[in-house]
Amino acid sequence: MIHIHQASKYYNNAIPALVDISFKINKGDFVFITGPSGAGKTTLLRLMFCAERPSSGEIILNGVNISRIKPSAIPALRRSIGVVFQDFKLIDSRTVYENVAFALEITGAGAKTIKKKVWQTLKWVGLLQKKDSLPPCLSGGEQQRVAIARAIVNNPLLLLADEPTGNLDPQLSLDIMRLFKAINARGTTIVVATHNRGMAEQFSDKIICLSRRHSIEPC
Ligand SMILES: Nc1ncnc2c1ncn2[C@@H]1O[C@H](COP(=O)(O)OP(=O)(O)O)[C@@H](O)[C@H]1O
Ligand SMILES: [Mg+2]
Repeated sequence: MIHIHQASKYYNNAIPALVDISFKINKGDFVFITGPSGAGKTTLLRLMFCAERPSSGEIILNGVNISRIKPSAIPALRRSIGVVFQDFKLIDSRTVYENVAFALEITGAGAKTIKKKVWQTLKWVGLLQKKDSLPPCLSGGEQQRVAIARAIVNNPLLLLADEPTGNLDPQLSLDIMRLFKAINARGTTIVVATHNRGMAEQFSDKIICLSRRHSIEPC
C-alpha cells in the first residue's frame, strides 16, 4: 500500500529530517514509527499525505508516485487518507457534529449521506450524546475521539496519527489506542508516530525506529 524507497528530506536544502529511508507498509497493517524528538517522525507522516515532498527518493501510495504528484491532484489523494494530530485541530466554534460533518462537506457529499455517516461514526466512537457540544467543553480524550471520528468518517484507506496520545493521560491513551485497534480491525491501514516506545511495543509488532541520525535503525 505504501512503498517508501530511499527517501530523504532536507529542510531548506540543509537541515536533515530524514536520510535514505526505505520500507513497505501493507494494506491492513498497524505500524508505529518511533524515535526521539527531532528524529523525523512528523516529517515522515507529512510526506505520506503530501504536506511535504521528499528532497530525493520515491513515495508510492497505492501504485501512485506521490513524490511527483501535481498539486491539483493532492485534494483527491487526501480523500483516501485520514489524519489525526496531537493537538486535535478541531474548530472550537463548531459543534462536534459540525466538526465531523465538515470532512464530508468538502468532498461534496449530499446532506442525507452526511447525516447518516456522521451519526454512525459518532455512535461508533461513543460520542453521539455529545454531538451538540463545542470542543472546548469536552475532555481531552473526548476531543481526540472527535478528531478520530472526523478522520475516519470518509472511510479512508489509510489513517495517519501524529503523537495522538501526546496530550492525554495514560488511561485515556489506552482508550485511544484501543479505538485505533478497532478501526484497524475494520480494514483501515494505520500509521502512528510516537516517541512512546512502550506504547508501540504494547500495540503492534510492526515498529519502524528512527534514530537521531534521521535514518532507520534496528529496533
Ligand atoms: N518546517 C521545518 N523547517 C525546518 N526544519 C524543520 C521543519 N520541520 C522539522 N524540521 C526539523 O527536521 C527535523 C525532524 O523534525 P520532525 O520531523 O518534526 O521530528 P519528530 O516528529 O521526530 O520530532 C528536526 O531537526 C526539526 O527541527
Ligand atoms: Mg513530531
